[in-house]
Amino acid sequence: MVNRIHSLGGYIHEYQKSVANPEAFWAQQAENFYWKKRWDKTLEWNFQGPEIKWFLNGKLNLTENIFEKNLYTHGDQEAIIWEPNDTNEETRTLTYAELYAEVNKFANTLKRLGVEKGDRVAIYMPMVPELAISLLACARIGAVHSVIFAGFSANALAERINDSSCKVLLTADGGFRGEKITPLKEIADEALESCASIETVVVLKRTGSDVNMHVGRDIWWHKAVDGQSGDCPATEMDSEDELFILYTSGSTGKPKGIVHTTGGYMVYSAYTFKNVFQYSAGDVYFCTADIGWITGHSYIVYGPLLNGAKTLMFEGIPTWPDAGRFWDIVDKYQVNQFYTAPTAIRSLLAKGNDYLDGKHLASLKVLGTVGEPINEEAWHWYHDHVGKNKCPIVDTWWQTETGGVMISPIAGVTPTKPSFATMPLPGIQPIIVDGEGKELTGNSVEGNLCIKYPWPGIARTLWGDHERFKETYFSTFDNFYFTGDGAKRDEDGYYRILGRVDDVINVSGHRLGTAEIENAINEHPLVNESAVVAYPHDIKGQGIYAFVVCGELSTGGEEGIRKSIKQGVTKIIGPIARPDLVQLVPGLPKTRSGKIMRRILRKVAEGDATNLGDTTTLLDEDVVEKIIQGAQVEVKV
Ligand code: WT7
Repeated sequence: MVNRIHSLGGYIHEYQKSVANPEAFWAQQAENFYWKKRWDKTLEWNFQGPEIKWFLNGKLNLTENIFEKNLYTHGDQEAIIWEPNDTNEETRTLTYAELYAEVNKFANTLKRLGVEKGDRVAIYMPMVPELAISLLACARIGAVHSVIFAGFSANALAERINDSSCKVLLTADGGFRGEKITPLKEIADEALESCASIETVVVLKRTGSDVNMHVGRDIWWHKAVDGQSGDCPATEMDSEDELFILYTSGSTGKPKGIVHTTGGYMVYSAYTFKNVFQYSAGDVYFCTADIGWITGHSYIVYGPLLNGAKTLMFEGIPTWPDAGRFWDIVDKYQVNQFYTAPTAIRSLLAKGNDYLDGKHLASLKVLGTVGEPINEEAWHWYHDHVGKNKCPIVDTWWQTETGGVMISPIAGVTPTKPSFATMPLPGIQPIIVDGEGKELTGNSVEGNLCIKYPWPGIARTLWGDHERFKETYFSTFDNFYFTGDGAKRDEDGYYRILGRVDDVINVSGHRLGTAEIENAINEHPLVNESAVVAYPHDIKGQGIYAFVVCGELSTGGEEGIRKSIKQGVTKIIGPIARPDLVQLVPGLPKTRSGKIMRRILRKVAEGDATNLGDTTTLLDEDVVEKIIQGAQVEVKV
């Protein structure tokens, strides 16, 4: 079992140990797992290549560390507790023994479909137990899973499938989300018109919606699984064999396929889960994320299951049937650890405290937040009204690229401070650097957040593009991993994350590249060019503000164009990228060399044009005047 820290003194001791000798520290953690063959070198790395390898030549299968290692002790214990969207539908639970059998059956199914070690399997599914089963079945046979969030459009799905040439697609007839049904199979069919690599589509029956089944390509899940054995030998994997790909947005270009490998990710997700949440045997743990994001990978599936935990999966949304849904679930299953995003907290706070009336929430021991900075008001509401002043809040800072939590309180151990992610976990060496990459030592400093030493969960590459991996994370500042976030370290040495310093925006905890949204907008036939920036949004944290230059207006007039631009982005990327505000402008503020001065647009979007900074390089001052006049928000001048 994974080691657990119990006291502040214990944390300080572990931390010092981990920094003095990271390799010994992580080797000690890795000893807690079952390896078919032990590794012979703990770490090999350089941040120039970059090349990072952990537990070299170790052989293992991650799923053996979930199942075989633990079945004797807790085969009958619940592994997955599933709460459906509709409160009238029956819940499902799978014990470790049952989950094991399902994973093996599906692993055998994949094998029968010709999936081999190293093949990529795309997964586009709703939040049902079969989604978790698919990930584990891939891991069982060494297939590389690539989960695509079920809110993405056909175009976005196709782009991701093609980038890593997936062989099989797992999907469902549809997905329930509150009162709506997402027609997943229909969207997948559209995507597959441009995906040559997909040989087979396995379709789970979930909503009972009518779907087209393409003869020779599509098969029903239940039919495919029928008759498969519940035994499937675990494929031997090298520590550095790929476990999964997960796409995320960057500041430029197309989405990046973040690659995580087997040994390091296993050790890191398990270690951080147990420590951050202080999970104890028997606890019920509930993370509200979707498995389509890294939070779901690491802290619904892998981290909890590697610790033999009971992990709760919820199919629905926080506001349906009403804004008390999370709290009903907490009471129903006596949830002990609850992990959600600031945007969810803010949206529930905005609905008022009536929805908390009559809810006990007495089982809660730990509250967590992730995905974006949490504002103090939301922090206090969460702490006082949900946690009843007795649950520590773990504000966990991390990224798709980091595999697991990096900077966070350890629940009940690290003294918290509202809106501070507090201190690095053992083994993590964050630093703050100035614009030139000079490390700012001591306390009370602010700058760019970097990490100066590898940890087992760090991404190893971008699928098919190692050069871009280097460029994005290791080239801005020499010898450091650059996170893209700004941070400050206060007088107590506590870290506060200030948000992205690049052209990435964070909308409701979803990470989006402004360039990606601009590309989608520019596909509109009337659009000449566009620039997208974030603006402060009460619920979403950041909203999307698009400045758009059109050649001419269509018959629908301005209102019509705005609407069709928003629809276009929804179609091309998905509803999460839909601009909140679209302003048609005569031109964009550009420098004489043609570079868009985003700083000015950000100021306008933030509603404060009192200090636009240096505008001497501006080509046309008039444009700025017009932008301010036509702004979609009130602007102070
Ligand atoms: C970006 C990573 C890690 C899972 C969810 C998002 C922001 C994440 C926090 C936090 C302030 C946070 C950062 C980061 N972020 N957690 N606790 N406080 N900001 O994963 O999509 O890879 O996004 O989310 O800006 O870089 P992601």
